[in-house]
Amino acid sequence: QETHKIRESLLEWYDHNQRDLPWRTKETNPLQAEDEDKEKRAYGVWVSEVMLQQTRVQTVIDYYNRWVLKWPTLQHLALASLEEVNEMWAGLGYYRRARFLLEGAKLITSKGDGFPNTVSSLRKVPGIGDYTAGAIASIAFKEVVPVVDGNVIRVLARLKAISANPKDSITVKNFWKLAAQLVDPCRPGDFNQSLMELGATVCTPSNPSCTQCPVLSHCRALSISNQDKSVLVTDY
Ligand code: ADE
Repeated sequence: QETHKIRESLLEWYDHNQRDLPWRTKETNPLQAEDEDKEKRAYGVWVSEVMLQQTRVQTVIDYYNRWVLKWPTLQHLALASLEEVNEMWAGLGYYRRARFLLEGAKLITSKGDGFPNTVSSLRKVPGIGDYTAGAIASIAFKEVVPVVDGNVIRVLARLKAISANPKDSITVKNFWKLAAQLVDPCRPGDFNQSLMELGATVCTPSNPSCTQCPVLSHCRALSISNQDKSVLVTDY
């Protein structure tokens, strides 16, 4: 079945081509990861994904490394002051993101139930939206849920030759549905990251490197020579 082949090709490609990024700590044996490891991973995914929302990967790397050096765990962060957090954030912009991290850390630690580990419980934390909840739940806790950002929309739009207005909320909803059907049930976090990674490095807005693409044989846009159009508006 085509869905299975797409999953397999993307995961295989991701295993060999993912960028080495500090928040992508390798799990030695994901099935035996201790709860404590998962919480640490969830914290790292949360911080990195929030930073990545408005900032490029290259810039985020240094900020991320400094952040986790100062506050290695959620418990450390919860004891920080807003001034310290803002100082650490200086240059990243959109300072409310830093405040949400601090307030979220305080809220989660004060409840004492550990890091929320599902999309529905994560969504209750102020500042955690669908995207961040999906990223944390799938990457850190292996919940089989999709993650959709601009990169994922472009990749899926090309793969399925969908043209629609990306500013339209119905369009975005439809991409969440499509991504939910596609997400790999065994490795949801890696699968989601493979789509983001493909969009960032191969399936780029202009001049995509289709010859490097692991799923080119499944790509409807390529098959009708529409890949250059990004199918949708490019700067979603
Ligand atoms: N952009 C934002 N989050 C990402 C991730 N986890 N992997 C690749 N690119 C990303």
